[in-house]
Amino acid sequence: MTPVYAMAAAARRLAAVAAGALLLGAVLIPGPIEAQDFGDTPYVQTPQNVVDRMLEVAKVGSGDYVIDLGSGDGRMIITAAKKHGARGFGVDHDRRLVQLSNRLAARAGVADRAVFYERDIYKTDLTAASVVTIYLLPEVNLMMRPKLLATLKPGTRVVSHDYDMGDWPPDEQMVLDAPDKPVGRDKKSKVFFWVVPGNAAGRWRWQLPLAGKSADVDLTLAQNFQKITGTVTAGGGAWPVENARLTGEEINFVVHNRTAAVRYEYSGRIIRNAISGTVRVTGAAAQHQLGWEATRVELGVPAHTLLKKPELQELQRQMQP
Ligand SMILES: C[S@@+](CC[C@H](N)C(=O)[O-])C[C@H]1O[C@@H](n2cnc3c(N)ncnc32)[C@H](O)[C@@H]1O
Repeated sequence: MTPVYAMAAAARRLAAVAAGALLLGAVLIPGPIEAQDFGDTPYVQTPQNVVDRMLEVAKVGSGDYVIDLGSGDGRMIITAAKKHGARGFGVDHDRRLVQLSNRLAARAGVADRAVFYERDIYKTDLTAASVVTIYLLPEVNLMMRPKLLATLKPGTRVVSHDYDMGDWPPDEQMVLDAPDKPVGRDKKSKVFFWVVPGNAAGRWRWQLPLAGKSADVDLTLAQNFQKITGTVTAGGGAWPVENARLTGEEINFVVHNRTAAVRYEYSGRIIRNAISGTVRVTGAAAQHQLGWEATRVELGVPAHTLLKKPELQELQRQMQP
């Protein structure tokens, strides 16, 4: 056992969490809760109003498959099944919590849709998920991040209680009152939400009618997480893409040729090396909408996929004040 909680700022932030965990453990489950291993997250419940908001933000519905990483007493998956008709599972390395969760799921009448396994989060297959929920230490989030980005399907929603994902900017974030929060003085909770991005990086090409003729349009896109930047070239001109957005595999951007006073609003879906969608063309002369069919002529590598896999000890060192 390494005395990390004395060393890492993140762990210090959670000192209250750990203390609360011991108390909560004493109330919920017989026997003392084991001291946590290096980098493990202690057991603290997400207050029910925060659980409700997290599932709402992720727009969980009956078609969803939700996975809770470190599922505690199972409230996230049980609520997803009971209130939203979703299916899913939770994993926790504490056998007593897993047994408790399965009992609570049965009591709630959702044992066929909400199941709990004694399993390590790092060894859990996440490929079935359409939504992943998390309440883990900040450095554990960062340790999980490469796996989330590499193995979750593009478009999968990830929602985290209290801690972000470092350089991966959230698509949404909020602070809410959490009067029942067992830890912290301000009784507030943060919620962070992401959509796992697809790969939009590389060079794309399509045809567009320009000055009465079909012309080649080229787009070079760079990507870091869901952030995309790039330049369109056509007919000898070059324009930056504006208002670019990548949400899962949905891609949107605007090209504004200010000289010709024409604006192109692109909106489509990436399917491997093709994009299918529409372009809305507006200008002084006319407005119309065309089909947009692009082909990737050169596959790019999103910058975030080149990041070195973090080392837990290094992360904890960085989190020291
Ligand atoms: C802060 S609690 C969150 C519980 C629940 N998800 C909630 O929001 O109410 C974190 C949980 O993760 C579990 N946990 C921590 N590290 C884990 C690991 N490596 N594998 C599986 N479970 C883990 C702990 O036992 C604890 O129950």
